[in-house]
Amino acid sequence: MASLFDPIRLGAIDAPNRIFMAPLTRGRATREHVPVPIMADYYAQRAGAGLIITEATGISPEGLGWPFAPGLWSGEQVEAWKPVTGAVHDKGGRIVAQLWHMGRVVHPSFTGHAPVSSSATTAPGSAHTYDGRQLYTEARPLELAEIPRVLDDYRRAARNAREAGFDGVQLHAANGYLIDQFLRDNANFRDDAYGGSIENRIRLLIEVTRALIDVWGADRVGVRLSPNGDSQGVNDSQPELLFPAAAKALSDLGIAFLELREPGPGGTFGQADHPPVHPLIRAAFDGVLVLNSDYDGITGQAALDRGEADAIAFGRLFLSNPDLPRRIAEKLPLNPNDMATWYGPGTAGYTDYPLYEAA
Ligand SMILES: Cc1cc2nc3c(=O)[nH]c(=O)nc-3n(C[C@H](O)[C@H](O)[C@H](O)COP(=O)(O)O)c2cc1C
Repeated sequence: MASLFDPIRLGAIDAPNRIFMAPLTRGRATREHVPVPIMADYYAQRAGAGLIITEATGISPEGLGWPFAPGLWSGEQVEAWKPVTGAVHDKGGRIVAQLWHMGRVVHPSFTGHAPVSSSATTAPGSAHTYDGRQLYTEARPLELAEIPRVLDDYRRAARNAREAGFDGVQLHAANGYLIDQFLRDNANFRDDAYGGSIENRIRLLIEVTRALIDVWGADRVGVRLSPNGDSQGVNDSQPELLFPAAAKALSDLGIAFLELREPGPGGTFGQADHPPVHPLIRAAFDGVLVLNSDYDGITGQAALDRGEADAIAFGRLFLSNPDLPRRIAEKLPLNPNDMATWYGPGTAGYTDYPLYEAA
């Protein structure tokens, strides 16, 4: 049986422990989506993670609608990421970039045009924008002829991630963003090769994953899915069929790891509305499986003991505890996290969470 403190090999990446840092949007980049030096401090503080998965990072202006979130489409962004990856490596860590296209969740105030999605749908609620909260608007369905261009946008971001010194990439296919808007059947009403059957709805996921593999090799590409419960209005009627099929196809591509954000029915960051899907995904996926949502050191170790997961990704606990692996190992008390500073600005609630110090 594996311990959270045993090393694990993710394709070509050697993680010294199984306590991973989940992707966390923190909104500290510039308005032009360029990383800033405090991001290097923040990630370097957390270099003790077996693997750091960065905050979601826009692949293109079309795909990014979060204030002060970073991107990876320009040379300027690449140069600004280099000190971040360098600082993590100097501290002995590993860091992969989470690649993000938000689809219909991009408010037009960011781009000057309607967002794109699988179909003409509108995300529920309102977006964080530079001018406060604004209602989402209806998406324009991507035309078939545009899909190669979207794949090229992912490829460019993947190349840029390599140039910026990352150890690999994770495709953000979770949480109601573009790929998830193709996957799940309450958002995808297409009648072409990208809609309808499960095989068609997973097509974009697989094509994008292949594009990332073209750049990085499968052994440095991970994927994140959220197989259970509503995410920003995106949901599926039969996740127990859809997600194992997606996992099987990803398994056939030989990706380095698959991460799931699957809360329970009483989850504190999203809630399940079906029985757990992760055991079905476990059976369908041959590679390294990482579980996330509401785990702590005890429940994470229990998931490893039951053979449900190979590693655990911790979000909010890593946000407020830069030395989380040590705190789990020594059963030390944890810093609480402050929601008011999740999305910035500045260093407060970002780089000032203290390391444990014995009283
Ligand atoms: C402040 C904040 C930002 C987040 N940003 C992202 C993100 O950029 N990409 C992503 O896939 N999930 C994101 N999530 C979800 C987390 O990765 C994780 O799934 C969630 O926090 C549940 O895990 P936890 O219980 O360990 O915190 C975010 C969560 C929080 C609290």
